[in-house]
Amino acid sequence: MASGGGSNLGAILDACRSGRISAEVVVVISDKAAARALTRASDVGIPALPIPPEAGETRESHGERLLAALGPFDADLVVLAGYMRILSTAFVQRLSGRMVNIHPSLLPRHKGLHTHRRALEAGEPEHGCTVHYVTPELDGGPAVLQAKVPVLPGDDETALAARVLAREHVIYPKVIGWIAAGRLRCPDGVPMLDGRPLTAPLIDDGSLA
Ligand code: GAR
Repeated sequence: MASGGGSNLGAILDACRSGRISAEVVVVISDKAAARALTRASDVGIPALPIPPEAGETRESHGERLLAALGPFDADLVVLAGYMRILSTAFVQRLSGRMVNIHPSLLPRHKGLHTHRRALEAGEPEHGCTVHYVTPELDGGPAVLQAKVPVLPGDDETALAARVLAREHVIYPKVIGWIAAGRLRCPDGVPMLDGRPLTAPLIDDGSLA
């Protein structure tokens, strides 16, 4: 599910196509009819469904429509890749342990929006991104993998966001690959990688296979 440019979707599609991960994208859903993510999918023959909220529609009923749309595809995993709309609690609970998100900060720092700006304003020496399982607490689900980037002198939001995004394109397919291979699960709210609980997120330093 994506709202915008879909560069993370592109990275995931590349990883699937090249065989680096053993997974298949079966459908792409967007809340924005004009999202580039939808054309990225339809261009390669993947069903692309625009499902924007309707006027006056509650978050709950939008969530029900999303579940109904997903149903026929029988997806094992829902991947939020720049999906910028808060999902209903019922939607999140229905997909408990089967939905992941990527967030452009080193969670728990900078939940929510404008993460790059806030990292710059706070004068932080490093910033990054986090892949986590989704729970009803916004950006609060258990984290699996993070990548760090330095904040460099002269950085603005655009430069910092681009540096982080490049790392997103590496860590998101990696985590999806772990899940597809049966190496990563999240029973009872605790991620388990290769049979071991992750009590803190792993940091991708290039050595993780
Ligand atoms: C990414 O930076 C992703 O981390 C962020 O939106 C961007 C989407 O880029 N997601 C969030 O902020 C979610 N709260 P993309 O459309 O090019 O993949």
